[in-house]
Amino acid sequence: MSTRSLERIIESVATADGAGVKLRRSLGSGQLARLDPFLMLDEFYSDNPDDYIAGFPAHPHRGFETVTYMLDGRMEHKDHLGNTGDLGPGSVQWMTAGRGVIHSEMPKQSEGRMRGFQLWINLPAAEKMKPASYRDIPAEKIPELVFDGGRIRVIAGTLKLRGETRSGPVNGSQPALSTDPIYWDLSIDPARQVTLPLPAGHNAFVYLYEGQASIGGQSLPHRAAGILGDGDRLNLVSGSMGARLLVLAGKPINEPVVQYGPFVMNTREEIEQAVWDYRDGRLTETA
Ligand code: CO
Repeated sequence: MSTRSLERIIESVATADGAGVKLRRSLGSGQLARLDPFLMLDEFYSDNPDDYIAGFPAHPHRGFETVTYMLDGRMEHKDHLGNTGDLGPGSVQWMTAGRGVIHSEMPKQSEGRMRGFQLWINLPAAEKMKPASYRDIPAEKIPELVFDGGRIRVIAGTLKLRGETRSGPVNGSQPALSTDPIYWDLSIDPARQVTLPLPAGHNAFVYLYEGQASIGGQSLPHRAAGILGDGDRLNLVSGSMGARLLVLAGKPINEPVVQYGPFVMNTREEIEQAVWDYRDGRLTETA
């Protein structure tokens, strides 16, 4: 058993995406600010409708997966496959763009708080052109493990803790994802210590979004990606206010990454193809 250390921090930067939604981008804020297989993590959090009302009108993706996790507020997803998703508090939208998706995510509220995350997970070359798929996972389908000292919502992966097991709606075999992702939302009570198992060899990071927490005596900055060294467990200590954080891990793909906006492929030629396909209306075409 070895404990994962805090190796480096990717601070978040304020940016805007979609039609002007204000957000904080940690992973993905630069070409080097990635952690294979994770490409990007955005947090949107505002009580001011001006920051989110424009939403994310119809736009394309190719070559990876997008995972949206809502904490507060409501958005509606629509895509070219005919899916409609109601993204309410605590729910998750897991979309595999594969060959191509054109979708929109628009607010279903004109006031109040909008808060959540969007994560981009890369796909290996062999899976980048697979057919698009979409899963709308309501809050009540996400299992929670309550333990002495806190609670964890298991969105992806399987958690075994203190004799209990929870498997998220997305796990190693359902559907089969070669990156075998872990996506946990962890709440720790004030001044507690928590040790979580994490598979050795998975790249992993944490994102503290409320309260205070430390790893190996090092405080985690707020709204930043804390990249972890290798090991098979994570040891966290919460501060006097408690802490809320995302714990994310996945098997690295170890392939070149060429990104142009919403297209993430392995080579420049494949990116050019994606741009042409989109212009010609062929992005989402299936053979
Ligand atoms: Co999108």
